[in-house]
Amino acid sequence: MQILKTIKDMQALSRTFIAGGKTIGFVPTMGALHEGHLSLVKRSKRENNATAVSIFVNPAQFGPKEDFRQYPRYIERDLVKLSLFGADAVFIPEADEMYPQGSSTIINVGNIGEKLCGASRPGHFNGVATVVSKLFNIVMPHKAYFGQKDFQQTVVIKKLARELNFDIEIMICPTIREADGLAMSSRNMYLNPAERKAAPVLYDALKRGKSFMDSGVKEVSFIIEALADLLNSEPLATIDYIELVEPEGLEKIEMVKLPTVLCLAVKIGATRLIDNMAFTP
Ligand code: PAJ
Repeated sequence: MQILKTIKDMQALSRTFIAGGKTIGFVPTMGALHEGHLSLVKRSKRENNATAVSIFVNPAQFGPKEDFRQYPRYIERDLVKLSLFGADAVFIPEADEMYPQGSSTIINVGNIGEKLCGASRPGHFNGVATVVSKLFNIVMPHKAYFGQKDFQQTVVIKKLARELNFDIEIMICPTIREADGLAMSSRNMYLNPAERKAAPVLYDALKRGKSFMDSGVKEVSFIIEALADLLNSEPLATIDYIELVEPEGLEKIEMVKLPTVLCLAVKIGATRLIDNMAFTP
């Protein structure tokens, strides 16, 4: 497994892969790797000749009051996991390699980045789109792998790739969960034992949502109120949003119409968690 710290070195390695006729699969991450991340690596291994992973806690996607400084960093452990999983290349740039002094170019994803998580995280998706575009130009993959866990991110990235004509196939992989249903996330590390015990309430709410959908309930406001009641019955939970949206433009729907995605953002104590469930015809 090759570890690359500079953009030049990563681009040179990718060019070698391409010259050798290899297809490159790419998994961008911010590290503190768990089975969710590793499931993307595994899928990329299966579908490509070479797999590159990036580990970069991207300052541009954190708000001034967010957890950039405290975001978990476990590079050594991450590298062990990636080598066990057979990654071919790991790109680990420093912040000033990615954003040298004076960098000012930002990708604006528009209105799609202001919905759902964008409402409470202004600029977040522009920061994600900017770093992912840079990483695409650095790694030059054929396919790039993203988790359904961050549903809005998948929508933004698919739109970005389409509208900026990246010749890269965007692959979306299922959410990997703990045994009690909690979606794996690097931020789960912030939870204290009581909060960890409370956190599966997000998945409970999604399952309740599914049971309403399965039984043919059509009125979205009814479903959302019921899910709010369920979430509010957990004293450690504070709802940020509960929304049913159509999956391309993320517009809220009023009556259930498939396909749709049920999206949640809930604070458990001080930790903001997100989860979602997709419903198809
Ligand atoms: P990060 O949160 O580290 O996630 C990296 C990738 O792993 C994302 O595509 C995310 O959706 C996926 N992932 C996280 N938890 C998952 C789970 N439980 N199951 C399946 N996939 C999961 O998302 C980011 O980093 C950043 O925004 C990034 C795209 C790297 C840009 O900085």
